[in-house]
Amino acid sequence: MIPDRIYIIGYMCSGKSSISRKVAARLGYEAFDTDDMFEEKYHICVQDFFDKYGEDYFRKFESDILKKTGEMHHVVVSTGGGTPCFFDNMQWMNENGVTVFVKVNPITSYHRITQAKRKRPLVIGKTADELREFVVNHYNSRLPIYEQSVITVKGEDVDIDEIIRKLTELE
Ligand code: S3P
Repeated sequence: MIPDRIYIIGYMCSGKSSISRKVAARLGYEAFDTDDMFEEKYHICVQDFFDKYGEDYFRKFESDILKKTGEMHHVVVSTGGGTPCFFDNMQWMNENGVTVFVKVNPITSYHRITQAKRKRPLVIGKTADELREFVVNHYNSRLPIYEQSVITVKGEDVDIDEIIRKLTELE
């Protein structure tokens, strides 16, 4: 049986939102994105929130938003790159749904971040060299948490069929 709640996790620019929309469409589920939920609820973009109130407040509100999804059914939730790494969020997702880690080489993430339209507060204002070094180190520090996911898929060439099959084969 396909789980009621599917959490898509992974580093910045790994393609989580697009994958979650595709998986949701295939399953007839609804797709959500915790950053979008945050921006809708607080009427401020994540970048501006970071600037005004700082990361600690963001993490607290992000965790509250995540946990609200525990009341939802038939949803695929794309999370922010840092969501699994704060509080008990990773454990909570594993207890309340199934986690899918979209694994992308950090150098790929680095290239995508430099081209992304949406600015990420954690990486703003860095030179190319600083950014590359930051992304590699930051990714590696988060990897042990991402690896607690139930399912892992390669983010460079995502196969939605493979994700659906893995979800179907869960015990
Ligand atoms: C963050 C990732 C962002 C957003 C915020 C913090 C992070 O989401 O939640 O800027 O800590 O990695 P994306 O992963 O969608 O870029």
